[in-house]
Amino acid sequence: MNPSASPADTGWFLQDRFGLFIHWGIYSVAARHEWVKQRERITDEDYQKYFDHFYPDLYDPALWAREAKNAGMKYFVVTTKHHDGFCLWDSALTDYKATNTPWGKDVLRPMVDAFRREDFKVGFYHSLLDWHHPQFPVDPIHPQRDDLAYREAHRDRDVRLYAEYLHGQTRELLTQFGKVDVMWFDFSYSRRKYPWGQGKGKDDWQSEKLLAMVRELQPGVIVNDRLELQGDVKTPEEYQPRGWMEVNGQRVMWEACQTFNGSWGYYRDNLDWRAPDELIRTLIDTVSKGGNLLLNVGPNGRGEFEPRAMERLRAIGEWLRVHGRSIYGCTASELTPPPDTRFTYNPQTNRLYLHLMAWPYKHVHLDGLAGRVEYAQLLNDASEIHMKVLDPHQEAETITPGGGRPDTLMLELPMQRPAVAVPVIELFLK
Ligand code: GLC
Repeated sequence: MNPSASPADTGWFLQDRFGLFIHWGIYSVAARHEWVKQRERITDEDYQKYFDHFYPDLYDPALWAREAKNAGMKYFVVTTKHHDGFCLWDSALTDYKATNTPWGKDVLRPMVDAFRREDFKVGFYHSLLDWHHPQFPVDPIHPQRDDLAYREAHRDRDVRLYAEYLHGQTRELLTQFGKVDVMWFDFSYSRRKYPWGQGKGKDDWQSEKLLAMVRELQPGVIVNDRLELQGDVKTPEEYQPRGWMEVNGQRVMWEACQTFNGSWGYYRDNLDWRAPDELIRTLIDTVSKGGNLLLNVGPNGRGEFEPRAMERLRAIGEWLRVHGRSIYGCTASELTPPPDTRFTYNPQTNRLYLHLMAWPYKHVHLDGLAGRVEYAQLLNDASEIHMKVLDPHQEAETITPGGGRPDTLMLELPMQRPAVAVPVIELFLK
């Protein structure tokens, strides 16, 4: 978790900060969340119609890659297989794959090629679970968890045989697609309590053996923290950590993974969409705490990013087009920012970025920065921002503020808030 302790190549990850998560599969045809099979207790037979109607005729991974690049994203992580067991690539180990659907083609390889052409780092999400595999034991979160006859009929499933399949497919992914930069396994649940039975964890997956194979096949790959082993990156999901994440009191590399609307897979009727400006503020907040943001798109059954996703990607991209250097290569500052603001800091350029989540009236006061800033400008238009250090003994007068701490730097702001989602002041530190 600690970048310096990890065998992974973490430099690009800490530089790039912002990635695209893609959840795409036959659940996208059902169009009501990627857990639809589990939530609705759908049998394999009844779920087959989504396999039989997987025909993404508008699929254009080059377009996806361009949209993601324009959104300011630098790496992507795609679901090679989700919990339902459906595989996007032409795996030799199963018939349950895109090449056997009416679409008839591997959809993973063209995606990897397209994103690589746009200089993206490549990440594979791979579900540890598999609600289709004949040797995956039925457990308390399985789609047929309440079907006693089914559970009885399948009680002799051997998780060791399933683990062989899991390892075999992981080997395919790490040997057939060139350099893989992130391996994103999901998820272990042996420590969760259920009314009956046991969740699955590192013993079921044979995680130590799996991790060793991953590192051997792809030296430098970043592995996440869901094998029930200490991975290279902690992955808080669908919440915003309050600060730099720690393990055993040590700051660790971390990546927030989040959706636009609470569903990873395409969800047609979901109206719970986050506002573009809030997404931008969340990206800023994440980097201000030393983290990465992996933001998800769930493409639809035609193979397209829906308009609501494109609107948000484009809004984020426009803000990053102008403000990207306050995100890329930046991390947390040790300084405490004023209320309603965040600091990000680029150690290479020695520049501090003040993100104004709310526009203050005329002034903003930066404690601890008096005498430490050579120049200040609004990042959106490179217009100078005047600075002042008030005499700490100065009394507050009718039209002039009183002095503050001797180390306080006061910035003088225009009345007009810049017409950008989040204005940023770039501080050139001495
Ligand atoms: C949770 C969800 C899964 C999703 C993953 C992404 O594990 O159950 O559907 O793929 O989060 O982090």
